[in-house]
Amino acid sequence: MITSKELREKWINFYKQRGHVDIGAVSLIGDGTTGVMFNVAGMQPLMPYLLGAKHPQGTRLCNVQGCVRTVDIDSVGDSSHCTFFEMMGNWSLGDYFKKEKTAWSVEFLTKELGFDINKLCTTVFAGNKNVERDDEIVEYLIDAGIKKENIFFLKDNWWDLPGTVDTPCGPDNEWFYPRHDTPCGENCDATCECGRWVEIGNDVYMQYKVLADGSVEPLKNKNVDTGFGFERLLMYVNGLSDVYMTDVFCDVIKYMENTLGATYGADEKQTKSMRIIADHMRTSVMLIGDQNGILPSNVGAGYILRRILRRAIRHAREIKLSTEDLLEIAKIYIEKVYDKAYPLLVEKEEYILSNLKLESDKFNKSIETGIKEFEKLVAGLGRKVEFMTKNNPDYVPTEADKTISGKAAFRLYETYGFPIEMTVEMAEEIGFAVDQEGYQKAFVEHQELARSTSQVAKSGLAGSGEMETKYHTATHLLNAALKRVVGETSHQMGSNITSERLRFDFACDHKLSPEEIAQTEALVNEWIKADIKVVREEMAKEEAVKQGAEHQFIERYPDVVSVYTIGDVSKEICTGPHVENTGVLGQFKIKKEEASSSGVRRIKAILA
Ligand code: ALA
Repeated sequence: MITSKELREKWINFYKQRGHVDIGAVSLIGDGTTGVMFNVAGMQPLMPYLLGAKHPQGTRLCNVQGCVRTVDIDSVGDSSHCTFFEMMGNWSLGDYFKKEKTAWSVEFLTKELGFDINKLCTTVFAGNKNVERDDEIVEYLIDAGIKKENIFFLKDNWWDLPGTVDTPCGPDNEWFYPRHDTPCGENCDATCECGRWVEIGNDVYMQYKVLADGSVEPLKNKNVDTGFGFERLLMYVNGLSDVYMTDVFCDVIKYMENTLGATYGADEKQTKSMRIIADHMRTSVMLIGDQNGILPSNVGAGYILRRILRRAIRHAREIKLSTEDLLEIAKIYIEKVYDKAYPLLVEKEEYILSNLKLESDKFNKSIETGIKEFEKLVAGLGRKVEFMTKNNPDYVPTEADKTISGKAAFRLYETYGFPIEMTVEMAEEIGFAVDQEGYQKAFVEHQELARSTSQVAKSGLAGSGEMETKYHTATHLLNAALKRVVGETSHQMGSNITSERLRFDFACDHKLSPEEIAQTEALVNEWIKADIKVVREEMAKEEAVKQGAEHQFIERYPDVVSVYTIGDVSKEICTGPHVENTGVLGQFKIKKEEASSSGVRRIKAILA
């Protein structure tokens, strides 16, 4: 039995012995530079170095990095998918290349972890219109002991950071191992999708940059970017065929078994729920307890967290676990599983648990009525079919008869807090569909209505006067100052302006100290004194986001937006109006700092 602690150490030691520096892990929350919401790969924070910048710690690096990937969220519930996972990584920044890397990957898997070289399989890049087939690596793989018949060429063996451009990419070889020795049929090789083969990691040879038109250009350096799935390796080395039976999950699974008097694996539906709860609670703990932690909300990363957490809550209700049980599960992760590797979780334990409880209480209040509402909708559709059939025995039920309308799905979201994905999942469970386009339409219509109402309120038609305009600009300065004083996670959650004062709500997990308030005030006043020009530009929404403009509800903006830039202090998507130069604002003074809601603080400030 190899514990998760031992596996971590083995990885780091192996690469340290080969000249690598352990660079440690960074935040799970994306830094906004690529537009990727979470850290999805160990290479993400290393992008500038893969593109050629000099890394301060050298050309050989390694770590174990937490990642959040939600693309596979619908697969969670099977025995190998997770939304949070750890990636064991190592990098060569223009240092060694295919030969060394291939030999080390094989050595680590076979010598350190005991994988059978005769069963170890790998897939190799088969070439495309831009880059030729990777024949070179085959030779190295065979030298390292991989059997020729265990090497497969695939077109998909190319890795880039999805949805990004001007980022490093290249061909990769992916490692596979059978979970058991019974093939599903004659052609059950590493490329078979029967479930016997799970990818355990890959070595990417990053030597290209992906351009906007989809073509690639060679990079200055030939780099190596490796990522091995921690949980999956842990499963294999312990002879298991289910990641939820490894020591990262087994205490949580045991807790559920004991509480329910159930056996994991006995009932398919219950087992699926147990896995979803185990995975989603772990991800929620990690996201809230992260160094740049987030909280559930209706936008951006906060919405994804809400969706994950609410899905866990729904499954908990289904198998009859309470909020207290979910909190116990969170505690197991914080105190038992990750206390050593993620000590910050222990420090933030109270904060994590109270926010989990808050969201759970909030959702539990409406979920029952929401589910009843959902059932009513389904029953209504059923009655319609019944009625139609009664009047016309030849009536054939249509797709529409089994589709929940967009408006109804929006109502479930708006009134009961059901993320659309959850409504879709509930519908799918009973063979129904949801009109998702209709949902989007209802969503946008609602936002437009809300926006025009709030614009009227904001521009204060009662007098879109000089003072309101000044407060508008002061709000941008305050937002920018808080980002510098409190940190990048501080972002706008709400704003209200009158001719007397500004009120600003922002994400922040603590009461501001007197020093933080003083620093914030001083920064704003410094920028006012510097009399910086406020520049308005119109641009495509995507461009604004690319330029890093602050925004609150990106999906609610029109395609072309106006962006206000204040020197290098602030850039925000905003409808204005604003002053022309910050110098006219006068003296900025924070009058009050208080809690607004959980994880949200409120500042009232004046210009004198
Ligand atoms: N960047 C590669 C991955 O994420 C290693 O799989």
